[in-house]
Amino acid sequence: MHLSHLSLTDYRSYHRAELDLSPGPNVLVGSNGVGKTNVVEAIGYLATQESHRVSNDAPLVRFGATQAIIRGRVHRGERAVAVEIEINPGKSNRAAINRGAPQRAREALGLLRSVLFAPEDLSLVNGDPTVRRRFLDDLVVQLRPALGDARSDYDRVLRQRNALLKNARASRTWSDEHDHTLAVWDEHLSRAGARVLNGRLHVLQMLAVPLTESYAALAQGRKAAGFTYESTVPLAGGQHGTIPSEQELYEALLAELESRRKQERDRGVTLAGPHRDDLALTLGPAPAKGFASHGETWSMALGLKLASYRVLIADDADPDARPVLILDDVFAELDEGRRARLAALAADAEQLLVTAAVAGDIPGELAGPRIGVSLGEDGSMLDAEGAP
Ligand SMILES: Nc1ncnc2c1ncn2[C@@H]1O[C@H](COP(=O)(O)OP(=O)(O)OP(=O)(O)O)[C@@H](O)[C@H]1O
Ligand SMILES: [Mg+2]
Repeated sequence: MHLSHLSLTDYRSYHRAELDLSPGPNVLVGSNGVGKTNVVEAIGYLATQESHRVSNDAPLVRFGATQAIIRGRVHRGERAVAVEIEINPGKSNRAAINRGAPQRAREALGLLRSVLFAPEDLSLVNGDPTVRRRFLDDLVVQLRPALGDARSDYDRVLRQRNALLKNARASRTWSDEHDHTLAVWDEHLSRAGARVLNGRLHVLQMLAVPLTESYAALAQGRKAAGFTYESTVPLAGGQHGTIPSEQELYEALLAELESRRKQERDRGVTLAGPHRDDLALTLGPAPAKGFASHGETWSMALGLKLASYRVLIADDADPDARPVLILDDVFAELDEGRRARLAALAADAEQLLVTAAVAGDIPGELAGPRIGVSLGEDGSMLDAEGAP
């Protein structure tokens, strides 16, 4: 698939921006801070309804505005669809499809698929487990948009369950009423958690080989990239073998919560469930975190993103469904060999968006329209000639 037009209103630094894009490579060039990442972040948001830079929506809205709007024209084969997302921090986001009536933003998930790699993704390797869980869950939702509901249910129930544990701990009392309410939350948490976990385990199974292959293709080193899934739900740990069913995971999580009951009451937080799991990345025999060199960290993070791209392609064999591939600011960091290999790996994307501060960093293979990005006084985007 590809995006032929992007339009932004009060998104980040842009009061208004209109951008035509073509299939194949599109290169956004402009000096630091001019708004290149803002453009690709908006495209990522249109696809996943998540920013790769921030976990809440408020920073996405231009200073002084109350709402941001992202509109895109998405082409999939012969079909085109206009997708519009309204970002309303503190209130529900809304979506409009083909200029129809506003509806839940979720309804627009899956219409655009994209995989975005940015320098922030280095934290996939050296950051907190939260980053890796989010990577997995975003991929799960791109593959199975319906699981977005399981994830938001899980987060909601988790907050409520944690609030109960925290309040009971603070008041130093534990009543039958508490037991009763907790049993209700356990049930809900385990149901939603089992769906989230099952989705993650499927995605992990699909990721393993593409990760090793992408890493090997990029780094050409001797070490193999891999991972293990470290789960607080015993049944879900490891990565090989058959994937437990949702029912089995539900029972396992419920039992685990029960066995940690006393500990949870003492600490006032939920101790088992997908929110406490981690994806441990490995390079050869060693963990990547804390051991990988700077270059290896880049290749590992990039390898993970390219692997997720492969997973999305494998999931939907229709060539028209291929996600838009976005590489933000990566070429400046790579040596000549890695640049050329990355260009080759990215070449089969129907649409590729690349940003760079210095045009010369982009490999010659990625010849395509060069879009000069600069910002007018009023926050409108200017083209390479400085015209709105
Ligand atoms: N909510 C917002 N309202 C107004 N301006 C914002 C907002 N969020 C970010 N900005 C501005 O957007 C600019 C950053 O844009 P962006 O990250 O897209 O730059 P860039 O072109 O990718 O730069 P670099 O080459 O350094 O990566 C900054 O000047 C920042 O102050
Ligand atoms: Mg940038």
